[in-house]
Amino acid sequence: MGRDTKDNERPEDPVKLTIDTYDEVAEEYCKMTMERGDRVFQEEMIEETLRMISGEAVVLDLGCGDGRDTGYMHARGVRVVGLDLSKTMIALAKRKYPRCDLVYGDMRKTCFPDDKFDCVWASASIIHLPKDELDVMASEILRILKDQGKFVFSFKEGEGEGYVDTSMGKRYFSYYRLEEIENMMTHFKMLSYKEYPGMIMGSRFIYCWFEPDHQNSPR
Ligand SMILES: C[S@@+](CC[C@H](N)C(=O)[O-])C[C@H]1O[C@@H](n2cnc3c(N)ncnc32)[C@H](O)[C@@H]1O
Repeated sequence: MGRDTKDNERPEDPVKLTIDTYDEVAEEYCKMTMERGDRVFQEEMIEETLRMISGEAVVLDLGCGDGRDTGYMHARGVRVVGLDLSKTMIALAKRKYPRCDLVYGDMRKTCFPDDKFDCVWASASIIHLPKDELDVMASEILRILKDQGKFVFSFKEGEGEGYVDTSMGKRYFSYYRLEEIENMMTHFKMLSYKEYPGMIMGSRFIYCWFEPDHQNSPR
C-alpha cells in the first residue's frame, strides 16, 4: 500500500466529502483495518481508558465507524453509545453489533443532553475535521461530558491539513503535534498520552487523555 499523498486544496465541504468516501468504502475499509495488526494496541488503549472511569460509566464512541470499539466496550459490560455520520458505517455497525446502541449523527452537533457522558472516546475520527472546527468540537464535548469526565482523542501526528488521496479514496485529514493539541484544547487539561509504537498508513498515531479544566472553562 502506498503512502498517502497530501495536498493543501480544501474542498468546499471537507466533512461531506470524507463521509461520502466512507459511505462508499466502508466494508472494504473496515476489513483492511481489522487485518492491520494494531487492534491489540487499540484494545489496550480502551482498557487504559476504562481504568479511569467507574463501572457505571456511560461512554460515547465518537465517530465509531463499524462499531468495533463500541462492540468491544459493550462486551466488557460498559454502557456505550456509538455515533457516526456515515450511514453505511452505522448500518454495518448495527449488523455486526445488533445489541449496541448506535446512532447516526454529526459529532459537531450531537443529539445528546448536557452532562450525559462519563467518557468520550474519539478514535481517529476528529482528525477528519478541519482545524478551524476543533473549537466547535471541543465545546460540544464539554457540553455533553460530565464535570469529571474523560475525553480521549487519537490523532495522526504531523503538520497541516488537507485533502488526501488514499488507497481508500479521498478524505480530509488534520495532522497535529502534541503541543499543538494541548494548546488548542483550551478548556481541557491533558492527563497523559501514548504513542502507537509503529506507523499506521504512513503516520504516527498518538492517544491523548483529557478532562475538563474547570478553572479555564466557560461553564
Ligand atoms: C478512521 S474512521 C475511525 C473509526 C473508528 N473510530 C475506529 O477507530 O475504528 C473515522 C470515522 O469517523 C467518522 N466521522 C468523520 N466525520 C464525522 C462527523 N463529523 N460526525 C460523525 N462521524 C464522523 C467517519 O464516518 C468514520 O467512520
